[in-house]
Amino acid sequence: LETGCLSIVVLGASGDLAKKKTFPALFNLYRQGFLQSNEVHIFGYARTKLSDDELRDRICGYLSHGKENAEDLTKFLHLIKYVSGSYDDEEGFRSLDKAISEHEVSRNSTEGSARRLFYLALPPSVYPSVCKMIKNYCTNKSDLGGWTRIVVEKPFGKDLASAEQLSSQIGELFDEPQIYRIDHYLGKELVQNLLVLRFANRFFLPLWNRDNIDNVQIVFREDFGTEGRGGYFDEYGIIRDIIQNHLLQVFCLIAMEKPISIKPEHIRDEKVKVLQSVVPIKDEEVVLGQYEGYTEDPTVPDNSNTPTFATVILRIHNERWEGVPFILKAGKALNSRKAEVRVQFKDVPGDIFRCQKQGRNEFVIRLQPLEAIYMKLTVKQPGLEMSTAQSELDLSYRQRYQGITIPEAYERLILDTIRGDQQHFVRRDELKEAWEIFTPLLHRIDRGELKAVPYKPGSRGPTEADELLQRAGYVQTHGYIWIPPTL
Ligand code: BG6
Repeated sequence: LETGCLSIVVLGASGDLAKKKTFPALFNLYRQGFLQSNEVHIFGYARTKLSDDELRDRICGYLSHGKENAEDLTKFLHLIKYVSGSYDDEEGFRSLDKAISEHEVSRNSTEGSARRLFYLALPPSVYPSVCKMIKNYCTNKSDLGGWTRIVVEKPFGKDLASAEQLSSQIGELFDEPQIYRIDHYLGKELVQNLLVLRFANRFFLPLWNRDNIDNVQIVFREDFGTEGRGGYFDEYGIIRDIIQNHLLQVFCLIAMEKPISIKPEHIRDEKVKVLQSVVPIKDEEVVLGQYEGYTEDPTVPDNSNTPTFATVILRIHNERWEGVPFILKAGKALNSRKAEVRVQFKDVPGDIFRCQKQGRNEFVIRLQPLEAIYMKLTVKQPGLEMSTAQSELDLSYRQRYQGITIPEAYERLILDTIRGDQQHFVRRDELKEAWEIFTPLLHRIDRGELKAVPYKPGSRGPTEADELLQRAGYVQTHGYIWIPPTL
């Protein structure tokens, strides 16, 4: 493990992302001993003029703490310094560099290298100028080694051309191994489990293909609207906000071939390949929706056609998946909040129980809430009668892993950036392929050629989406509800 001075710089320190995600993740890492007080310093940078204490006060309320870790909290807050400056002016970045260097000098009087991590909790419009400033004024210059890394968040562009432009601008300044593109779904426990489930279990090897699987659904549902984020959301819509990144990453892990090894580059090579095998999306395999009341948000134009719901079918042209629909579905203001992968198997050939059966075999990976992996299967209904019933083999995390806290996605991902592990980050070519898949569809929506149909907030979304699902071959199970096991 590397040692030496580590400076973590959070740019956009007083913004929402920093307060709600970045600082809490850093605090959790600190509490668990991953950030050592004698090595680490945290710098907040933003335009607002604030004192160190004012920044500490702003973020303090977002850090989970009780009596038991009051001391940790005080020590953690003490590690944070604030520097103010603009995002395109050298003066601010020179003072930032000065502050970091002072800290490094005081620490490196002992030994070790200097590591500088820049977390851009900022709108992408300022990425190019901020990256330039970091490159010119703030990179690590220590003779003792170390590194400079930058962490960026989506949206990485709005379509293929703008994403490529952004990638080139950043790519001219930093090398790919220095750039960490976060997709926080890759930090979720069950998303990280997908690789293990698929490739460490004999069960799935012979079944994971077009001969046995009828359809796959990757679903994201939220039971609230765009509250407070209408302005941002309206420019992007649900496909850019959720499907092109979060759901597509899950899709890659479900559909890709086995990598040569678990090295990050080998895994990412396979993701790129499967993305390259996706055929153009057909209009008749898309349903768009917008919840009623969405345009009442004052930051949203009255005539907005931005989808808050979308079902999109992806099809893969390769030996394993030809003919199998991958149904990606995401929506806001629906009747529940959950994210899951549902792999539905084909019917049993020559089935002798047909008229009694409730449904097909399904393998479900519930990413959230209540992490679980379960297999729906048909069993004999216990009792004197010879009848069948749908049941499940259930691995519910809350029950199976009692007392284990599942880390927050951001916590894990930030730790990876410090350790230099890019497995759970999006590579430049992967991003490009992702945009290639969705750009034609997005342009058509932007031009108003595909319309979002209205749906009631708190509903399942447009009925057209359920009809599309049926047409794609999905068969709904009747009379079965998964019951989360109680402790
Ligand atoms: C973000 C989207 O990337 O993910 C939000 O911008 C969405 O619109 C959020 O609410 C969902 O993340 P999670 O981890 O709560 O599923």
